[in-house]
Amino acid sequence: MPNSPQHRVAELRDLLQKHAHLYYVLDAPQVSDAHQWFQELQAIEDQHPELCTIDSPTQRILGKVLDGFTPVQHAVPMLSIRTETDITDEGALSFDTRIRKELQYNPLDPAIEYSCELKFDGLAVNLRYENGTLKQAATRGDGQVGEDVTQNIKTIHQIPLRLMGKAPAILEVRGEVYMRRDDFEKLNETQRQRIAQGMRHEKTFVNPRNAAAGALRQLDPAIAAQRPLSFYAYGTGEVSGWADLDVPTPPTHSQMLDALQAYGLPVNRLRKVVMGGQGLAGYHHEIEHLRSSLPFDIDGVVYKVNAYTLQNELGFVSREPRWAVAHKYAAQEEMTVVRDIEVQVGRTGKLTPVAKLEPVFVGGTTVSNATLHNEDEARRKDIRIGDTVIVRRAGDVIPEVVGVVFERRADPAPHAFDMVARLSGQCPICASPITREPHEADWRCTGGLYCPAQRKQALLHFASRRAMNVDGLGDKLVDQLIDASLIRKIPDLYRLTQEQLQELDRMGAKSAQNLVQAIAASRHTTFARFLFALGIRHVGETTAKDLARHFGSWSGLCQASRDDLLQVNDVGPIVADSLLNFLGQEHHLEIVNELKALGVYWPEMVPLSASLESNMARPLLGKILVLTGTLPHMSREEAQAKIEGLGGKVTGSVSRKTDYVVAGFDAGSKLEKAQALGVKVIDEAELLQLLS
Ligand code: IVH
Repeated sequence: MPNSPQHRVAELRDLLQKHAHLYYVLDAPQVSDAHQWFQELQAIEDQHPELCTIDSPTQRILGKVLDGFTPVQHAVPMLSIRTETDITDEGALSFDTRIRKELQYNPLDPAIEYSCELKFDGLAVNLRYENGTLKQAATRGDGQVGEDVTQNIKTIHQIPLRLMGKAPAILEVRGEVYMRRDDFEKLNETQRQRIAQGMRHEKTFVNPRNAAAGALRQLDPAIAAQRPLSFYAYGTGEVSGWADLDVPTPPTHSQMLDALQAYGLPVNRLRKVVMGGQGLAGYHHEIEHLRSSLPFDIDGVVYKVNAYTLQNELGFVSREPRWAVAHKYAAQEEMTVVRDIEVQVGRTGKLTPVAKLEPVFVGGTTVSNATLHNEDEARRKDIRIGDTVIVRRAGDVIPEVVGVVFERRADPAPHAFDMVARLSGQCPICASPITREPHEADWRCTGGLYCPAQRKQALLHFASRRAMNVDGLGDKLVDQLIDASLIRKIPDLYRLTQEQLQELDRMGAKSAQNLVQAIAASRHTTFARFLFALGIRHVGETTAKDLARHFGSWSGLCQASRDDLLQVNDVGPIVADSLLNFLGQEHHLEIVNELKALGVYWPEMVPLSASLESNMARPLLGKILVLTGTLPHMSREEAQAKIEGLGGKVTGSVSRKTDYVVAGFDAGSKLEKAQALGVKVIDEAELLQLLS
């Protein structure tokens, strides 16, 4: 009857089933109003309980909390497969050789056809469909007897409660329940939040397989429904009644998988029919390349002789079929023990905790260190010295500690990781205090220029164009200078000799000479540049200029209180504290004094109110200079800054008022004009003399 509740219920179930398949299996949703249909169906079923069936979509997340799982005798035993551990092509070739031998094939017989599939890393289940309706789902158990997990399996939306089309009287579908990696991450995040909220009995899971196993054996279906599981079908158990259908029984395994897919079951697309051992090896390689980009874990691939006639001929040895094999990949996860947690100091002073591991072979290499990223991460994962942990190395990514195997934690438990306690508050390299600013994840060494671990970075910054501007002192040279111990601390830069430099790899006499000159030229700088060069955290170029303008001199800055600092343009509490921290360390003051003693010099910019000593400090006061051509060691801006720093003025054109024209290479009309007007012309070296 078209308008009867029976009719509408059937219609709604068909709609819901079709769209659930589109959404969950084909990943191609077509509608967004399935929820309304669901509510309508629920309402009709409430009014007419006799119309509710076990395969209704409303029956997915119902059920009561169980006391335990009921044993289920499997109609056809659930076997396991032999594992081929030789992860090279040989593993594939030897399987083909063995099959041919068993079948008494000679070299002239044709290549054998195989069905190749992924080996999913989850748990095997048997889904029993009777006349197309899901009646029971069971775990593998010991292969003979499993456990009834129907209630939990029904929460997996990918698994149809009713098969599409005309199904045989009995169809047992076998496949793997697994958890996608992104679902696993989300679940663990939720678990962490619960633990943080004080739900102490909750725990995080070490890997997706572990989480899937926990979810499948969850006695409370409401909790199981919150654990996002997925499913792929890969075979069958008991099948009967196919002869009553108008299609023949599939003659091969791959055709059976196609049939399962047509019934609405999820079957992975990365399956392939290949010929012979070479075909198997080719598939093994193909999947290996895709492995780390798959949304779920696999630990290998599975090869199955495709034709059922040949499978029957081959039969079984003990509890394993002769016609199938699992061909592994190098494990991406292994268990090992944390021997120690060390802290490494990076080039920017960042302190990174690193787990020192009992060496373990994983992902194709031996791993003995794994970064814990930062203190929060180490605490979040709760990794402690002596813990047994799972280490993962997938593809080319850096090895990481996935999680702790808490069952194996020593009793009494070791202390939780604490950066300050571990380091006694000091940088492990230079013993400067360590700090961590609010809202930042990293602890840092405050040693800056003084810290050997930060020396390369500090030297590179010190010499950079906008700082001391040592022309030609780049990355490679900095590495060489520090590695050869020619520079142990920044002031050593001004002690370098041409002879020492010439000793370095790929350093000719001329380059060494140029570098020595560039270093010498950098001695004369401005206070702002010098401040910036010191690499004080949060003191960038602009702040350095503001500070220089405000305080005028190093001693002025050193005497400044926190309040004085806060007066400066753009200086807030973070910058002020960083400055106080820097200036409060004796070794920083020593470095500055040493640099000054080595001739690093900048004109003190006298505050306007006190311009008395200015003639002493500003030898170019009132002088007008014009720059022309390319100077050998300084850019124009550079020269201009130096001149202005000493009170001079730089103009763009030459006149009788011009005191000096500084001429470099390729000087043009300005030089001619200077000569015509009788203005004094000097070169860079003479300018430097003036500046000193
Ligand atoms: S076939 C008779 N195919 O690996 C053959 N198993 O020991 C039965 N597995 O516990 C297994 N992916 O859960 C087969 N594509 C696949 C598989 C697969 C994963 C699991 C299965 C079983 C174990 C084999």
